Amino acid sequence: MDKKMMTIDLNSHVLLDKAEKDGVETMYDRKQGFKSQCGFGLQGNCCRICGMGPCRITPKTPRGICGADEHVIVGRNFARMVAGGTAAHSDHARDIAHTMALSSRDGNYKIRDEEKLIILAKEWDVETEGRDIYDIAHEVADVALMEFGKPHGVARFLKNAPEPRQKIWKDLGIEPRAIDREIATIMHSTHIGCTGDIDSLIHMSLRTALADGWVGSMIGTRFSDILFGTPTVRETEANLGVLEDNKVNIILHGHEPSLSEMIVLASEDPELVALAKEMGADGINLAGMCCTGNEVTMRHGVKTAGDFHQQELAIVTGAVEAMIVDVQCIFPALAKVADCYHTKFITTSPKAKIAGSTYMEFSEETAYADGYKIVKEAVLNFKNRDKEKVLIPELKSKATVGYSADAILGQLDRVVNSHIDPAGTLKPLADCLKSGVLRGAVGVVGCNNAKGVSNLAHVTIMKELIKNDILVVTTGCGASAAAKFGLMTKEARKLAGKGLATVCDLVDIPPVLHLGSCVDCSRILDVVGGTAKLLDMDMSDLPVAGVAPEWMSEKAVAIGSYVVASGIDTYLGVMPPVTGSSRAVEILCGELQDMVGAKFTVNENPQELAQIIIQDIEKKRVHFENLV
Ligand code: SF4
Ligand code: FE2
Repeated sequence: MDKKMMTIDLNSHVLLDKAEKDGVETMYDRKQGFKSQCGFGLQGNCCRICGMGPCRITPKTPRGICGADEHVIVGRNFARMVAGGTAAHSDHARDIAHTMALSSRDGNYKIRDEEKLIILAKEWDVETEGRDIYDIAHEVADVALMEFGKPHGVARFLKNAPEPRQKIWKDLGIEPRAIDREIATIMHSTHIGCTGDIDSLIHMSLRTALADGWVGSMIGTRFSDILFGTPTVRETEANLGVLEDNKVNIILHGHEPSLSEMIVLASEDPELVALAKEMGADGINLAGMCCTGNEVTMRHGVKTAGDFHQQELAIVTGAVEAMIVDVQCIFPALAKVADCYHTKFITTSPKAKIAGSTYMEFSEETAYADGYKIVKEAVLNFKNRDKEKVLIPELKSKATVGYSADAILGQLDRVVNSHIDPAGTLKPLADCLKSGVLRGAVGVVGCNNAKGVSNLAHVTIMKELIKNDILVVTTGCGASAAAKFGLMTKEARKLAGKGLATVCDLVDIPPVLHLGSCVDCSRILDVVGGTAKLLDMDMSDLPVAGVAPEWMSEKAVAIGSYVVASGIDTYLGVMPPVTGSSRAVEILCGELQDMVGAKFTVNENPQELAQIIIQDIEKKRVHFENLV
């Protein structure tokens, strides 16, 4: 396939030509190289868990050497994906909790949202009366850190879910206990000679995934809001056209805001701005990528340079002085691409060292000093830019971002009848859903996947949903796609159906709302859970859905699994590696419905998938008819 057929982003088309001219290999070349991918891997029925393997299931070899059949092998592989994803999100959360433990009035990290901290402290029975806010923060951080390995009880955040949902989890025995324990249990149970039962493997996958969504990701989001400020509505721009010709361009890529917040501060340091000018630049231009991009755009309006599939292409512009990364979703290939230009590829985390990069360790203890050094390295690199090699593509879109659950409440307050309801309620949203002005609300989230055309499924599905009066909320690279394609603007209201467009006008929102990074899918749980509680329903009764049209990471498998376990139907545009077991497909795409009130649906055609979602949302509305 022509490489340009592999993405619908026109900036990417321009840069693919440039990469070819510059002799630079990108993921699109490598994808072409993999003419056919391993069928066993695709179906999930290759086992490499012990040294007797690999064992691959075929009609002639229906069992591995130990006797594991295709169901056990697929189930074990699936469970390990969930464990990997949960580990990534939750280890991110652990770092943020440690950062909060370090916070101080005159240190690098301060408490920016005291109200949110107090609410959480009260939820967790931490004494707040007459105490210094930092004492409270430190105790709350310690309580959070205990959620990773506490020996007794179940996760604290579970009680935030609607009661019927909590009962389902309890009855099924899928209440997560402690995050690390659930991950370790999966790693143990999938070791050779342990669990040999697919039902049990999926059961423990759901419990571990819930530790991701309702514990790790919630800690990640809430603690980030407390430390760095809860996002508020703001304007920004997205796509590689945000890079600037005459400024030091720094791209922030990865996930954890502890680093990116310091880079944002350092990039405004007068000494570094002056140094940039000394180097002949007009200033410093920050742009974000992947989830770090989402974090800094939500809190500071930092422009979004692009998504997961554009990380190499950003360097191909020849205009990037530094690509600064921490953890997750970073191509090791960046080292090689950066070698072809003057770009410094700066890794910062001991958890994600990459051969060929410039390693400048970032530590929360010396955060600002580290951030300063890293930005200085970028600024000093401006003199090495080769003007002949620069090509910044033109396209960029405006976007309104910053819709944390709190900011959504703020927008809804515009239509609250203050004589009847207090401010800060989800009631207007619940009313719109009940009346049918909004047919439903759908989270379109997740990555980009080279198995499909970059951005195509995200954009197609979002457009189709809003046209049918379904409000779209989005995180991760789904959010970057929406921003790049202009779906987060007031003008996008003209693409919405009449009901949604009216709501957008009244509440002053775009039809697609940016909720943040991948861990911020926890904001979606908060909004859906809150709406269900208000209506005295379970989350599975609402006309809502989760969609990951272009998912690729283990984190996405964990997210999909906790969304389903939360009672929200989940639609995937890429088949997970489970088709090697008919039983796995039967459970994930069928029997889960009876267990948790939701299931997975997979369709690789975005148009068809959108129509299935719309039909299913309409079917869900029957719960409202019963209410009347
Ligand atoms: Fe083969 Fe069993 Fe070892 Fe897997 S655990 S590699 S199926 S012998
Ligand atoms: Fe992400």
